[in-house]
Amino acid sequence: MEFASKTVVISGGASGMGLLCGESFAKEGANVVLADINPDALNAAAEKVKAVTENVIGCVTDVTKYEQVESCINKAKETFGSVDIVIPCAGGAETRLLGVHDHFYDQPISVFDFGVDLNLRGAVYFSHATLRVMKEQRTGGVIILLGSITGEEAGKGAVAYATSKSALMNGTLKALAQCGAEIGVRVNTVAPGPVLTREAMANMKTLMGRAAEPQEIVDLIMYLCSDKGSFITGESILIDGGRHLMLDRKQPRWRKEYENE
Ligand SMILES: NC(=O)c1ccc[n+]([C@@H]2O[C@H](COP(=O)([O-])OP(=O)(O)OC[C@H]3O[C@@H](n4cnc5c(N)ncnc54)[C@H](O)[C@@H]3O)[C@@H](O)[C@H]2O)c1
Repeated sequence: MEFASKTVVISGGASGMGLLCGESFAKEGANVVLADINPDALNAAAEKVKAVTENVIGCVTDVTKYEQVESCINKAKETFGSVDIVIPCAGGAETRLLGVHDHFYDQPISVFDFGVDLNLRGAVYFSHATLRVMKEQRTGGVIILLGSITGEEAGKGAVAYATSKSALMNGTLKALAQCGAEIGVRVNTVAPGPVLTREAMANMKTLMGRAAEPQEIVDLIMYLCSDKGSFITGESILIDGGRHLMLDRKQPRWRKEYENE
């Protein structure tokens, strides 16, 4: 019961690693607030967590709307008395979510805006609203941002996703950690390689020859939130089965196709 009496707020909590965080923190005694844009999936997710604890609520929240994010954090505080751990997990590559398969320069610029709003603005909005509440509480806290191997290696389609995740693993993370340190809040980033929240991720290569189980990522998140991680802040940790070391995998085949056109 490592997180007994702590309240954890998780965006993107209706699915994937967000939902698994909810279930895993609940098993360790935490009160759980799941925030997600999808009301039906959110209800189903809250029911799943209820199998572990009665202390769970769902907040329908679009992370790109600051008032909704603020109201979710306030609801968590009103319901459970504190906000101790916040995991802005909602995110995804804009090209996948919008079904866009064109090169970046052939995409409407609205695709980039969508990706930055969801992946970067959403995480910063959650961090801002959280730091305000944690400052008043005077009991410190932890924020875990979700990066991605794409923030390290990028990719030619989802430019907003690469931009956002890179920021959450570098400048944005460091700025938030510097702000947080003044009020006892640690801020770290967990940056996964391929994770089996979707079958397709099994096709992404890693040095270890497989994608991660979602629980492997959630275990690292929980370590960083626990007292064992008490001296770690402003750090981004890749958890990618060594994919970042596979420097020979990128072949610019598209360039040859372009020259032969
Ligand atoms: N799955 C992977 O292989 C992988 C790899 C690296 C990083 N990540 C990152 O980890 C995080 C979780 O990934 P996952 O695959 O578990 O997620 P997922 O796709 O299973 O779930 C994402 C959730 O976010 C919600 N969401 C989407 N837009 C939203 C919005 N505007 N407001 C609120 N909620 C919204 C969706 O409804 C969904 O429930 C993401 O930030 C992702 O970028 C995932």
